[in-house]
This record gives sequence, C-alpha cells and structure tokens, in this order.
Amino acid sequence: MQKLIAGNWKMNYGGADAVPLATALKSKIVDPKCGVCVCPPFTAIAAVARVLLGTGIAVGGQNVAWEDKGAFTGEISAPMLHEWGATYAIVGHSERRTYFCEDAVTTGKRALNALKHGIMPILCVGETLEERRAGAIENALKAQLEGAFAHIDAGGEQSLVVAYEPIWAIGTGVPATVENALSAVGFIRAWLISKYGVAPKVLYGGSMTALNAHEFLSKGIDGGLIGGASLKPEEFADIVRIAEKIMRNA
Ligand code: PGA
Repeated sequence: MQKLIAGNWKMNYGGADAVPLATALKSKIVDPKCGVCVCPPFTAIAAVARVLLGTGIAVGGQNVAWEDKGAFTGEISAPMLHEWGATYAIVGHSERRTYFCEDAVTTGKRALNALKHGIMPILCVGETLEERRAGAIENALKAQLEGAFAHIDAGGEQSLVVAYEPIWAIGTGVPATVENALSAVGFIRAWLISKYGVAPKVLYGGSMTALNAHEFLSKGIDGGLIGGASLKPEEFADIVRIAEKIMRNA
C-alpha cells in the first residue's frame, strides 16, 4: 500500500508565513513517491495550494462541515475546500473532540460529506490516557469507529484514511511504542475488515518525528499524521524520504 505522510499545521502558519513554509516544502520534496499532504489553517489553504500545484504535495483542510452550505456559522464545507484546491480533510481530530465537543457521530457526518465531494477524509481515532490505564483502549476505539462509520458505506483504500492518534501522545513528545501502535492499528484494521471486507490506510499520529518515523513506517503502519514536525520543512521532508525508502525496499 502506498504510504501517506500528512502534515497537520494546526492553528499555525495561517497568514503570510504559510507561503514561505509551502515554498520550502516544495523545494525539499520533489516528485514524491509516497502520498504527501499538508493541512494548513483554512485561511491559508488557497495560497498553499497555489504554491504546491503540480508538485505531488496535496493540500487538505483540518475539518469539514457535514452540509454544503447554509446557516452553519464558523464552518467550512467540502465544496469550499474543493474550490480552494484541497483534496483531503482531517475529521474527528482529538483537539476537535476535546475542545469543541465534536463526537463520533458528527465526525462520521463530516467524513460522509467530504466523500460526497471527492475529498479524502483522514478520520482520527484514539484513546485517552485514562482509557489506556483502564485497559479500555479497544472499547474506546470501537465506540469511535462504530459512531463514525455508521453511515459510511465503503472502507477501502480509495475511500478514506484512518489515523490512530493516542491522545496522550499528541504534542507531548512521547510517542506510543511501536508495539502499542501496531496493536491499536491492528484492531482498527480488523474492525474495518469485518465491516467492509477491506481496510483503508491506517496512519499513526502522536509525536512522530524524523527520528522515530522509520520504526513506525517500517513495521506495517501506512503513514503518519504529523503535527509539530510538519512545521519544520527539513524534518517533514526527511519523514517523506523515510517513507519513500521503505516503499522502495518493500
Ligand atoms: P504531533 O501532532 O505530531 O505534534 O504530536 C499530531 C496530530 O495532532 O495530528
């Protein structure tokens, strides 16, 4: 399966500084042999997409509405993302769930509307530290998957991407161990295969860096959703090179 390296810029580089970051990425990631995508803040998507047009580096939104238009103050729809040149959208990121009360059901609705418009959702799931300590990782993942996939009718590689992001590993500098990540990713794949007969790409996210990416990507994880390290063009390009090399040697 082709690996995907996706950068989540979060609420950074949304203004004039987005173009220099995109330009730096363009010079360091040339003709990538794995999937590469960056998700800037909404305000920078159009400008970043213009810089990255034709480079093989795709652009995505950090969220997407479940309706196309109407009275949904503060939301951005899939047709709007599309118009800006975005082809991916992160949905259900734990920061959305934690700070903005999003849940499994709305995550599924968002993913569904993205799919309707040809935008590839990157659907995030992951457990809290309390759930991990209580031995409830699989229950937490199952609840998130059941809610999100209730109305989605395809789960193969062409339809969407899932990202396993243990919440305690996001932005902490403490990634999951590869064994822990593989066990959760295996559970997610098995759940999707039992529902759809196929599994999509399943990425790992949570303090992935150029130093630990090889470990995750060489052991069967299909890519990374990268926050902090995606803001450093050299490091993000290094992670892309690691993914390309693993694919070449596969
Ligand atoms: P991080 O963020 O790489 O900074 O841990 C990952 C994410 O939130 O997607």
